[in-house]
Amino acid sequence: MMKPIQVGLLGIGTVGRGTFEVLARNQEEIMRRAGRGIVITMVADKEVDKARALVNGTATVTADAFEVVKNPDIDIVVELIGGTTVARQLILEAIANGKHVVTANKALLARHGNEIFAAAQRHNVMVAFEAAVAGGIPIIKALREGLTANRIEWIAGIINGTSNFILSEMRSQGLSFETALKQAQERGYAEADPTYDIEGIDAAHKLTIIAAISFGIPMRFEDAYTEGISSLAAMDIRYAEELGYRIKLLGITKRTPKGIELRVHPTLIPARRLIANVEGVMNAILVHGDAVGDTLYYGAGAGSYPTASSVIADLVDITRMHTADPEHRVPHLAFQPDQLSSIPVLPITEVETAYYLRIQVLDRPGVLADITRILADNAISIDAMMQKEPAAGKEQADIIMLTHVTVEKNVDAAIAKIEKLPVVVGKVTRIRMEQLGTQ
Ligand code: HSE
Repeated sequence: MMKPIQVGLLGIGTVGRGTFEVLARNQEEIMRRAGRGIVITMVADKEVDKARALVNGTATVTADAFEVVKNPDIDIVVELIGGTTVARQLILEAIANGKHVVTANKALLARHGNEIFAAAQRHNVMVAFEAAVAGGIPIIKALREGLTANRIEWIAGIINGTSNFILSEMRSQGLSFETALKQAQERGYAEADPTYDIEGIDAAHKLTIIAAISFGIPMRFEDAYTEGISSLAAMDIRYAEELGYRIKLLGITKRTPKGIELRVHPTLIPARRLIANVEGVMNAILVHGDAVGDTLYYGAGAGSYPTASSVIADLVDITRMHTADPEHRVPHLAFQPDQLSSIPVLPITEVETAYYLRIQVLDRPGVLADITRILADNAISIDAMMQKEPAAGKEQADIIMLTHVTVEKNVDAAIAKIEKLPVVVGKVTRIRMEQLGTQ
């Protein structure tokens, strides 16, 4: 039997600890699969004493992560530090030293992945990142390998558990955004600064990676359209429900004749879709391939053991593949590096989708006629409509319209005109809407 693969762990927080425990717990099973042992022999963490207590003499502990990436005995570096500065330096140095890398760092890959994968290719090493997208769900494996026969047409995913928890609570308990966010924080789901979760940035990082491996394009995070859930009103979730829809924060990427759509935003989807019923912190990704049709991947998008499950899958993959000719490994972005496409990402104004519009109006004759005229002038066709009578003692009614698919710039133009009508109160609420299939 060959000597075990030696792993250096950078960061032994929630995911690092899970990786350490699962690797120890399932070591025999993992060895039977990998063909040789996989052991963590070195751990770097700022909290040295805590790390020492965790590894209990089985690995060398240091506060200096650069010691790990420099150590000639380490075969694979697992980066679980997060962030885009030190983590980037550490990974580039590990690669330059000929080490393979496993990372859960979606922000780093979305923003610096092109540089990191180019370096890995130059040094003939692998950078594996299953844990970077949707925690325990093996979506990278599915897209890069399981669906490799397909032309991927589109993907829609619930890829941020915190925001999905908030939306689920707003709908099922009738809570406001602020109250639901507080609950997420109390349960330890949202970060102390929850901006990345609730403003769609974390989802956009993951979507950027998904789009790259689905369409064979470089990481294009800077071109992603990102809109979060912080300004969503409980009222719209209720109205959507009455119309047979749920609102989810979706990451959507689609191939169109004009370019790739890459967008994260709250989205109305039919309540009868399986993905509309993914609740709480769970994640789910719906992938449409031309041969396979729709496939749906569901599971825990975060957490110690689920994320460790993905980290260790990457360790096993590298253990099996590291002696293979680099030309015969699965390419980082699923497509051969010289085959990446320069197809552009569409600006959001060029995206075509349907819309939910809520317009607050003074309940006067002719209001509806004025609004529908503006929509018609901008080539926007109405699919469904609902009017909510003014509450007792109030003069304002809500008009809710669902449109057919149209181009976003037409909706922008129509909304600007509608908001200028003297009978319209305040801003028009606009939420994009997707059917996600035809059944
Ligand atoms: N903050 C992320 C989420 C964790 O809520 O899904 C995993 O990236």
